[in-house]
Amino acid sequence: PESAVRRDRFSGGPARGFLSSLAGDARIFDADLAVDRAHVVMLAEQGIVEDAVAGEILAALDDVEAAGHGALPEGEDVHEAIETAVIDIVGDEGGKMHTARSRNDEVATCLRYRLREDLLDAAETTLRLREVLAEEAEKHTETLMPGYTHLQPAQPTTVAHYLLSYESAVARDTERLLDTYSRINVSPLGAAAFAGTPFDVDRERTAELLGFDALVENSMDASSARDFLLEATSALATHAVTLSGLAEDLILFANRGYVDLSDDYSSTSSIMPQKKNPDTLELVRSVAGEAVGDLTALLTTLKGLPRAYNRDLQNAHPHTFDAVDSVVEASDVAAGAVATATWEEARLKKAAGEGFSTATGVADRLAMAGIPFRTAHEILAEAAAVAEEEGRDTPDVATLDAVTTDVLGGSLFEYVSREAVEAALDPAASVASRDSTGGPASEAVEAALAS
Ligand code: ARG
Repeated sequence: PESAVRRDRFSGGPARGFLSSLAGDARIFDADLAVDRAHVVMLAEQGIVEDAVAGEILAALDDVEAAGHGALPEGEDVHEAIETAVIDIVGDEGGKMHTARSRNDEVATCLRYRLREDLLDAAETTLRLREVLAEEAEKHTETLMPGYTHLQPAQPTTVAHYLLSYESAVARDTERLLDTYSRINVSPLGAAAFAGTPFDVDRERTAELLGFDALVENSMDASSARDFLLEATSALATHAVTLSGLAEDLILFANRGYVDLSDDYSSTSSIMPQKKNPDTLELVRSVAGEAVGDLTALLTTLKGLPRAYNRDLQNAHPHTFDAVDSVVEASDVAAGAVATATWEEARLKKAAGEGFSTATGVADRLAMAGIPFRTAHEILAEAAAVAEEEGRDTPDVATLDAVTTDVLGGSLFEYVSREAVEAALDPAASVASRDSTGGPASEAVEAALAS
């Protein structure tokens, strides 16, 4: 049917393209259809729109869905374009769809509806990464590796202990995403522009039809609030920062020959034929920059906005969707890279004891024999300096004895047996001795894996 109404009442001027969010709104096309359907069903149930008209609108929405976002008429946004398409099919009665609502509560509802799905995807991706980290850890509870602080050799540990450190961090990332989900899954629909509506709407009903847990009750808050975007983007950026650390480590470990990345996650050079570069992980590392940029852009866009709706908000949520896409992809790729990497056990074992990384363990052994830890620390520091002068990175037992005698006036072996000192100097025994909860000893790591 031909419409009697001039529908194109929006700016037709040079700013039309600037105003329009239609292209980017493809992301919430399905959400908008769901929101339209729930709203129309509620309007009919409440007797606000006649059943027959509601039925025609619902049928038209099916046609609009089948034709797809690309077939929508030109418009300022997906909400207006779908309404225009419905009116084109149904006639002017189709305009009843927009009774008792505004694009302001509509878009806020669409964003929450879509984002909860995206956040579940993101949470699921983190679960897969955790699974991969735990699976690889299971294979390497006895694989020694150097542990670093300040990027200097610090104490020997195991690949399993290292990988589980990231599993723990990603577990908190999952929690943050799911925690955010609980505050996203509430319905602003029925708030209208911000000031509610005189129609007898049933907001609980539309919330129920759309699977929301509750309402964003205050209608001014409902149409203006975008803190859910901030929380989601922050949780995503935090995960991206976790991933960037993991990626950085793997790039360094590949550089040192500790880990061999699968060809599937490496790249070569167009000029240097021998090159195998960790490009994929470098891109994972870079996504933190993108996600932090999205978060910063969003915070800055929202800062100082007056109540209630302002069109700035149209440029807010794309930052969140960008963060979702880049972070989910990076998390997925990181999981693939970890799952397919080969840990070079011989090289790692050799490196585990380099740089006198067992010094703390020897000091611990002296402290266990009753020497104050600070004195033990001094003895080991002095022994390390002597070894360095002699061009070795780890002092031998004779040097340790000589320095102890210097400092304490008695032989090292008055305090600890030669075997105990030798064990403390051995990276594998050093790791095995550190069996405190959460430590690298294999029993402690097995317990962590089990939990
Ligand atoms: N497309 C807009 C957005 O994403 C919703 C339109 C509300 N427009 C308005 N002039 N109140 O925020």
